[in-house]
Amino acid sequence: MPGHIFVTRIIPAAGLDRVRAFCAESGLALTLWEDRLPPPYSILCEQARGAVGVLTTLNDRIDAAFMDAAGESLRVISQMAVGVDNIDVGAAAARGITVGNTPGVLTEATADLAFALLLASARRLYEGTRYIEEGEWITWDPTALLGGDLSGSTLGIVGYGRIGRAVARRARGFDMRVLAYSRTLTAEAARRDGVEAGDLERLLSESDYVSLHCPMTPETRRLINADTLALMKPTARLINTARGGVVDTEALVEALTNGVIAAAALDVTDPEPLPADHPLMRLENCIVVPHIGSATVGTRDRMASIAAANLIAGVRGEPLLHAVQAAGGLVKP
Ligand code: NAP
Ligand code: GLV
Repeated sequence: MPGHIFVTRIIPAAGLDRVRAFCAESGLALTLWEDRLPPPYSILCEQARGAVGVLTTLNDRIDAAFMDAAGESLRVISQMAVGVDNIDVGAAAARGITVGNTPGVLTEATADLAFALLLASARRLYEGTRYIEEGEWITWDPTALLGGDLSGSTLGIVGYGRIGRAVARRARGFDMRVLAYSRTLTAEAARRDGVEAGDLERLLSESDYVSLHCPMTPETRRLINADTLALMKPTARLINTARGGVVDTEALVEALTNGVIAAAALDVTDPEPLPADHPLMRLENCIVVPHIGSATVGTRDRMASIAAANLIAGVRGEPLLHAVQAAGGLVKP
């Protein structure tokens, strides 16, 4: 089989070894981008030329021009992530290129991280650490570092899919009331899960915590903006493990500075990566971690393994374990 396979980053051996073995047995060359930083767009396109399959990460802009640069040999784009907002899925479909992703295996890890952020924000963990570092801990203080309760409070989940549901399960264990919003969620389906379905406006105005779990699409881009933030309680906390672009960053900085909402905890940001001197990093009431939702050893191994399996199946012309069905366009963050 002529051509080559392009893997755009070093991925865990659970996946890379599978790709290497497939290349060896099928006579395909392996083009592997080994830098710590992802390839710049022009190099990404250049390296893809003549590839039969590419294994991508969410850092790569995979648009129509990329596909045309790769050429007619390209059969499959296998993304090592569930989110595919960096890929023009419609352009791939139009060219007969299959797109794969890695849903499910990262659900629990990402839900854990969302809940870790929720707890860290509610109980002001990072402020507590800084309090000690700055020599403020001179006594047990009845009025210092008071946070929010979880028990009896309301969690609003925007995007009630795999991860949203997994977060809801955790919340019920903490005796929280859960309100969920998704376009197709019915009251009956929500009730079966022990949660309430509500529209976005109601969810934002009634929730003490709002956790985002929708994909990034043209519809959800900047869904959380000055207008929607204004609907939230001044005591509410926003958790984002979805995509940075779902939140209008400037509006969030304003809201956190002016007491429109109490706090935010973010795994994803816009821009991403977030510069160390970004205004969000200077706010006491904002926690930011560097897009680590799926970052456990086991989860990343499973993601890499599925991405490799999707890649191999696509090159062979076989059905993928997980093929992306939606004909979405590339979404600008
Ligand atoms: P999923 O199972 O497809 O769930 C997404 C849910 O969002 C669906 O139930 C969908 O339901 C809902 N949704 C879609 N458009 C919406 C809209 N306009 N308004 C409200 N809800 C909407 O996906 P998942 O596996 O849970 O992953 C969700 C997202 O999490 C991914 O797309 C990715 O961006 C992000 N993620 C981040 C990390 C991380 O490391 N931080 C890790 C994994 C995933 P309806 O169709 O009924 O609206
Ligand atoms: C991570 O952000 C993913 O979409 O898998």
